[in-house]
Amino acid sequence: MLIYPALEAALLCTDAADKCRQTAAVAAHCANTESLNLHAAAAALDFRHAGHPAKPELVPPAAVKTRKMTTAAGYAAMLHAIAHIEFNAINLALDAAYRFRRLPETFVRDWIRVAAEEAHHFGLMRQRLQHWGFDYGDFPAHNHLWDMAYKTAFDPLLRMALVPRVLEARGLDVTPAIRAKIAQKGDADTCAVLDVIYRDEVGHVAVGNHWYQYLCQQRGLAPVALFRRLLGRYDLFVFRGHVNAEAREQAGFSAFELAMLENFEQSRHVGGHWPQALQH
Ligand SMILES: [Fe+2]
Repeated sequence: MLIYPALEAALLCTDAADKCRQTAAVAAHCANTESLNLHAAAAALDFRHAGHPAKPELVPPAAVKTRKMTTAAGYAAMLHAIAHIEFNAINLALDAAYRFRRLPETFVRDWIRVAAEEAHHFGLMRQRLQHWGFDYGDFPAHNHLWDMAYKTAFDPLLRMALVPRVLEARGLDVTPAIRAKIAQKGDADTCAVLDVIYRDEVGHVAVGNHWYQYLCQQRGLAPVALFRRLLGRYDLFVFRGHVNAEAREQAGFSAFELAMLENFEQSRHVGGHWPQALQH
C-alpha cells in the first residue's frame, strides 16, 4: 500500500462510513507492516475542506443553538455534537499523517493510529445517536476544529501546538461534566462510549505533546515560552472554564507548564499587556 495516496483518498472521502472503513484499512496495514511505503508521487494537496458529507450543514459556531437536554431532540443534538467532533477528529488525524512530510515514520504511524481510534469513536457515537432515533447529519454543526487545521497546515509545529494541545485537550476538560449529565439521564451505554473516548483522548493529546516537544527541540525553541506566544497570537485560551489538570498531566502537560499558563492567561484577562518575559 502506498501510504500517502491511501491517506489522501480517505481524507477526501465524503461518505462518513466509507471514510471510517478506509481509515481502518490504512491503520491495519500499518500495524502489519514493518516499513511503510512513504513514497509520494506528488506533494500534499492544499484543500480548504477535507471530505465531509453534505449533511450536517456547517454554520458559524455562534449559530449552533444550545438546546435543553430534557427534550429528545435536545439530548440527540448533544450526542450529535460529540459525533461531529469525532468525525472532525478523523480528518484532523489523517491530515497530520498526510500533510507533514520529512518527519520520522513514527509520526505518520502515530497519527494513523489516532485516526483509526477517532473513526472507532465516531462509529460508536453514531450508533448511540441512531439508538435515540436520529443520525449524523440531522443537526447543524460548526467547523471550528477543521478551520484550525487549515490555519496550521503549513507547519507541523503549529499544528501540534494548537490542535491536539489546545482544541483536543479541551475535550479532556469538558468530558467528565458531559458524562455526568448523561449518567443522570440513565444512558449507561452512552457513558460507556464516553469512557472509551476519554481514555483514548488522553493518548491522542499525549501524541500531540510528544511531537510538539520533538519539533521544538529540533528547532532549538523553548516549548513553554513558544506555546504562550502562540496562544496570545492566535487568541486562544487553555484556562477557560474547568481545566482537568489530572488528565492533562497524564497527557504530558507538566504541572509547571499548567501553572505558568494559568498565570499567563490571568494576566491576559486583566491588563491585556504582554507580560515582561515575552518582550524580547
Ligand atoms: Fe476521539
